[in-house]
Amino acid sequence: MQNEQIPWWQSATIYQIYPRSFQDTDGDGVGDLRGIIRRLPYLVALGVDAIWLSPIFPSPMKDFGYDISNYVDIDPLFGTMSDFDQLLSLAHEQGLRLILDFVPNHTSEQHPWFVESQSSRSSPKRDWYIWRDPAPDGRPPNNWLSEFGGSAWQFNDATGQYYYHAFLPEQPDLNWRNPDVVKAMHDVMRFWLAKGVDGFRVDVLWHLIKDEQFRDNPLNPDYVPGRMPPNQQVVPHFTADLPAVHDVIRGLRRVIDEYSERLLIGEIYLPFDRLVAYYGEELMGAHLPFNFSLLDTRWHARDVAKLIGDYEAALPKGGWPNWVLGNHDRPRIATRVGFAQAHIAAMLLLTLRGTPTIYYGDEIGLPQVPIPSDRIRDPFEKNVPGIGVGRDGARTPMQWSTKKFSGFSTSKPWLPLSVDWRVRNVQVLDQHKSSIYGLYRRLIQARRHSQALRRGSYHPVVSDGDLLLYVRACGSERILVALNLGSEPARVSVGSTECTGKVLVSTSGEHDGETTGPSISLDASEGFVVALAANTSPPSM
Ligand code: NOJ
Repeated sequence: MQNEQIPWWQSATIYQIYPRSFQDTDGDGVGDLRGIIRRLPYLVALGVDAIWLSPIFPSPMKDFGYDISNYVDIDPLFGTMSDFDQLLSLAHEQGLRLILDFVPNHTSEQHPWFVESQSSRSSPKRDWYIWRDPAPDGRPPNNWLSEFGGSAWQFNDATGQYYYHAFLPEQPDLNWRNPDVVKAMHDVMRFWLAKGVDGFRVDVLWHLIKDEQFRDNPLNPDYVPGRMPPNQQVVPHFTADLPAVHDVIRGLRRVIDEYSERLLIGEIYLPFDRLVAYYGEELMGAHLPFNFSLLDTRWHARDVAKLIGDYEAALPKGGWPNWVLGNHDRPRIATRVGFAQAHIAAMLLLTLRGTPTIYYGDEIGLPQVPIPSDRIRDPFEKNVPGIGVGRDGARTPMQWSTKKFSGFSTSKPWLPLSVDWRVRNVQVLDQHKSSIYGLYRRLIQARRHSQALRRGSYHPVVSDGDLLLYVRACGSERILVALNLGSEPARVSVGSTECTGKVLVSTSGEHDGETTGPSISLDASEGFVVALAANTSPPSM
């Protein structure tokens, strides 16, 4: 097994870039492609293998690029196609793969397809979107709700029908039951794949197909008004995760497989039993249906251990796992679990079995930045204010240095920096071995050099109180991961478990290279990755 060829993405660490916030080079306060080019050496030094870019295509930016008006070009805000070509070739030269965001569920209302579709009922593109007559009383055709608040149906005066939008009214949903839509979108994929991009992260993959009979969604008995976004008044039974979506995904996968070594990642928020169906029959669906379970678990050893176990158990045979700690839609991990535990979260992410995706800025412990009301940009927060759904706080500029605007831009950034930017930036953190940035680098390196961490099996050892212990094993290599999720010191010596070995990575960096005895003492929020000595008795698994 050890020398068996495995696809690149199974041993890769992926890094998500939110391009607006990574690096600005033209002084408009918004990041751009040349900025990413400038930071390629940083990404190489960090040790990641692939970057995924949130959308960079022409867009009115109503949902910051997730409303695309042309799938096969670059928005001038980010640069030009020639900047993109250069980015792609430089990334490849430096050993980095590049993954694009593919947004097939909806276009912008300004996409020529929609402009044509709404022009008349007899437009050849009418059926490319989802149009319905009003209910007899003139109201929307059914109770489907938009993720961003209000009805998911928007009335079009000129043609007297409603169109469906799962998100903003400016993001009409495409009709994936129409073969011409399927073909057009496959061609979009081919356009980028032919250029050499290494794959796609597919936006809201589980939403692509809606009920053909347009039945009302059931009411959600657990809905708490004022505490939950209004779309949760109904259960999305007829608007997402429909069986027919898997045929669509198989089609996407077939296009991916026309090219060698390309990756299909799906954005899917579903419980494990539903999520794993997205690997597809005979694994011909998404290579990696994103596993978001760490995004909202309670941060207790037992809960985390349970979710790892449940996920491992739910995976189909041959389905490759993956893990995520944050993204541009969810609160930053450093704020969710606290700065000290963000180190433990990093160690967890990078030692679990499966492809890790790092969200930009998490490697410097960027917190969720409070956004003053006059600087709110996110349409979700604007439409559904005051209940904490705002996503701007997780999208703030990367903090590079002690220079003005933290080296992100030469002018005021589109979103504020975190207040601690003078100390929380790459330049400063790079000088401290015990910083979270140093930890991310050491963990990524350890993963690169260890078969057990990259592809070894996972064996739970202990989840007791604040302690979470597991072993990763491949051949004779066995690695013990010991994490203290609490704020009290703890001692690890577990029945027959032997901890003797060499510390590969400690959260502080101070113990790296030390030899451990049969037990390990962990400080509050401390974690160790230990290469177990070959002659230790195997931990009780
Ligand atoms: C999921 C994306 O991650 C999010 O940012 C976006 O608002 C919605 N899909 C709609 O595209």
